[in-house]
Amino acid sequence: MSALFSPFSLKDVTLRNRIAIPPMCQYSATDGLSNDWHEAHYTGLARGGAGLVIVEATAVAPEGRITPACLGLWNDTQAAGLARIATAIKAAGSVPGIQIAHAGRKASAERPWEGDQHIPEDDPRGWTPIAPSAIPFGGNLPRTPRAMTLDDIARVRNDFAAAARRAREAGFEWLELHFAHGYLAQSFFSIHTNQRSDAYGGSLEGRSRFLLETLAAVRAEWPEHLPLTARFGVIEYDGRDEETLTESIQLTRNFRDGGLDLLNVSVSFTIPETRIPWGPAFLAPIAARVRQEAGLPVAASWGIDVPATANRVVAEGQMDLVMVGRAHLANPHWPYQAALQLGEDKASWVLPAPYAHWLAKYRPAE
Ligand SMILES: Cc1cc2nc3c(=O)[nH]c(=O)nc-3n(C[C@H](O)[C@H](O)[C@H](O)COP(=O)(O)O)c2cc1C
Repeated sequence: MSALFSPFSLKDVTLRNRIAIPPMCQYSATDGLSNDWHEAHYTGLARGGAGLVIVEATAVAPEGRITPACLGLWNDTQAAGLARIATAIKAAGSVPGIQIAHAGRKASAERPWEGDQHIPEDDPRGWTPIAPSAIPFGGNLPRTPRAMTLDDIARVRNDFAAAARRAREAGFEWLELHFAHGYLAQSFFSIHTNQRSDAYGGSLEGRSRFLLETLAAVRAEWPEHLPLTARFGVIEYDGRDEETLTESIQLTRNFRDGGLDLLNVSVSFTIPETRIPWGPAFLAPIAARVRQEAGLPVAASWGIDVPATANRVVAEGQMDLVMVGRAHLANPHWPYQAALQLGEDKASWVLPAPYAHWLAKYRPAE
């Protein structure tokens, strides 16, 4: 059996293989509520054979949405809709995961296919974003956020905990905290966006405080036997790479000690001016270093869409799970076809029985 198709266990959860579908926003919700599109989309992804399907960034509070069309988990009606999605993912043989998020200063934007820019201040569809400090992102996101008070910080931390409880009640078995991509938590950590002079800024300890306190609040709500994970941008590619990585690895050790079970290693995306070395699996060596030095299982995405590459990064111990995103939008049956390409004896075992039975011997015509 290839490394990619070996099962992976974390806490009491076992994934049927090392292929995970990372969160990918659909920007298709109304009032944070999921609908028929989300159900069709996630059901389709899950039946393709991935071990884990993580539902897109789901906001813990209304002002934490990237766009007005993002999913939310700040009320029980939203949780009821997401419960149907968790059930559908599980029925297809995948483990249902969800990413809970707060977009910070990048919130209140138009959908990507409508321009991605901040909604104008006089447009009633938008709102004033909040952030550690009143510093705008710039570029297409010029709106200056309001600097959070200590009450805001406590409220958002509690919102994360409440969303985690609702996610569990909705049937999700894998939780990912969105601490990446320049959104709220990442911007507490980054020196570019956090200029606070209180306990939530300054030193590494201060800039880590919001993330570690949020983790602790969620840990208290999320069952001990289920994986609690986070996505975090460990590197900005702003010319300070070694310094940022060293701090990120220290934070990851603190996450581990605080009860985190796996880190989804990503890029910070906190500022617009960076030099990211885009290329196939470019984050794999960074993920491997975090895994090695922080002593925590890791996953990563970004350009790992060729089955042989996905298999290699797992076989070489660079990461425990491979996150395959856009390739799944192009082909929801990517895992099945990867199994065929890697010469798995039983290529169809990744699929539920009603498909697996027929596909065990069937091979598509060349
Ligand atoms: C349509 C779309 C939506 C995305 N939404 C999210 C999201 O909700 N949360 C997140 O952490 N990353 C998000 N991402 C980033 C993906 O999770 C993933 O890291 C990225 O697509 C790179 O992986 P890939 O090269 O396999 O596609 C999104 C990407 C795409 C294409």
